[in-house]
Amino acid sequence: MQERSRIILRFADLIEKHNDEIAALETWDNGKPYEQAAQIEIPMLARLMRYYAGWADKIHGLIVPADGPHHVQVLYEPIGVAGQIIPWNFPLLMYAWKVGPALACGNTIVLKTAEQTPLSALFVSKLFQEAGLPDGVLNVISGFGPTAGAALASHMDVDKLAFTGSTGTGKIVLELAARSNLKPVTLELGGKSPMIIMDDADIDQAVELAHFALFFNQGQCCCAGSRTFVHERVYDEFVEKSKVRALKRVVGDPFKKGVEQGPQIDEDQFNKILHYIKCGVDDGATLEAGGERLGTRGYYIRPTIFSNVEDGMTIAKEEIFGPVQSILKFKELDEVIRRANNSHYGLAAGVFTNNLDTANTLARALRAGSIWINCFDVFDAAIPFGGYKMSGQGREKGIDSLKNYLQVKAVVTPLKNPAWL
Ligand code: NAI
Ligand code: MG
Repeated sequence: MQERSRIILRFADLIEKHNDEIAALETWDNGKPYEQAAQIEIPMLARLMRYYAGWADKIHGLIVPADGPHHVQVLYEPIGVAGQIIPWNFPLLMYAWKVGPALACGNTIVLKTAEQTPLSALFVSKLFQEAGLPDGVLNVISGFGPTAGAALASHMDVDKLAFTGSTGTGKIVLELAARSNLKPVTLELGGKSPMIIMDDADIDQAVELAHFALFFNQGQCCCAGSRTFVHERVYDEFVEKSKVRALKRVVGDPFKKGVEQGPQIDEDQFNKILHYIKCGVDDGATLEAGGERLGTRGYYIRPTIFSNVEDGMTIAKEEIFGPVQSILKFKELDEVIRRANNSHYGLAAGVFTNNLDTANTLARALRAGSIWINCFDVFDAAIPFGGYKMSGQGREKGIDSLKNYLQVKAVVTPLKNPAWL
């Protein structure tokens, strides 16, 4: 146990040592701003691994006081071989969310990276080797989803599957797991997360955080705040300020200092986003900013804002996964709760208000796995993350993530001399 912990800690030290090199690989593969990778994501990778190193020697069972003359032990054992399939939007953070708990609990791993972003996981896994991880414990494969991914999901010798990606592919892997050996599956899927801005909120702060919640990582976040609900009393001011902020957003070469937004991940996603922008225009939403590609080279899209978005419009219902903000208007608290919850998704929600009662009401009423009040995208290794409804099953990070990688065994022994119980 102590050795497991030590290896993971040594790995975290190596991540820190190679921070800038790893960040460059991540930007090269994914197109995200280098500063974001170097200053936020790679340090967070080290933090996540240290968190799980801390768990490695603290997972233990229970002695249960059952009725009758029996000594009952509950053992938490590694589940076995964990199959893990990760996406391309945060390649190394998704790696850490999956590899961290699986290793802390003593499992072996076969992890498949996304076809768009194979480099960083291969590089850091080499560092794991340097940290002393025995051969065969962590196996990283590059490959396509319908072949390599599906093989992992349906393999009879894979004991557990963890997946992050689209809801459609999540359903496929769940079915493959069911049809093969009924391996338990953790799913972290899509979202259409509401941001709720009340009329008593600090509007400048709400504008900035709603902007961040949507445009961060080129809009390619499962928990992106993609339905911005604004109270009618502050609606016009909010739209105007959001427009000014979006027009100021620095889009360009992700290796350049000060760049906030790089290109979209690939041509498929680029075309999909432009298609959704067209849907917004065709459905009659008001295009306030952007709405088209930037330049003629690379998959750059101008930060786009739609106002007067209605619940029934395609852009208000489907996951766009790009830099397109939709701003909707509401009047009453009950109304916005009903509309915010009226989605197949339930990953996250943002709440902006200075009224404690409103904040408490919304925190309880919203059906989502993460509620951020007067903040957004606050991630820490200790905070559980995951979805309600079609946004997923199970939780990653935090103490809840360990359950995914443990098998529970009850051991019962008779006590021969009940007089001493
Ligand atoms: P995807 O869900 O198809 O891919 C995610 C991972 O699943 C990749 O590693 C891929 O190789 C694998 N995969 C694909 N098909 C598979 C199959 N049949 N069996 C097993 N594994 C399979 O996502 P994709 O196509 O890259 O993006 C489509 C949409 O998914 C995006 O527009 C976005 O809406 C959503 N998405 C959500 C993410 C999230 O963080 N929840 C991350 C990436 C995409
Ligand atoms: Mg796909």
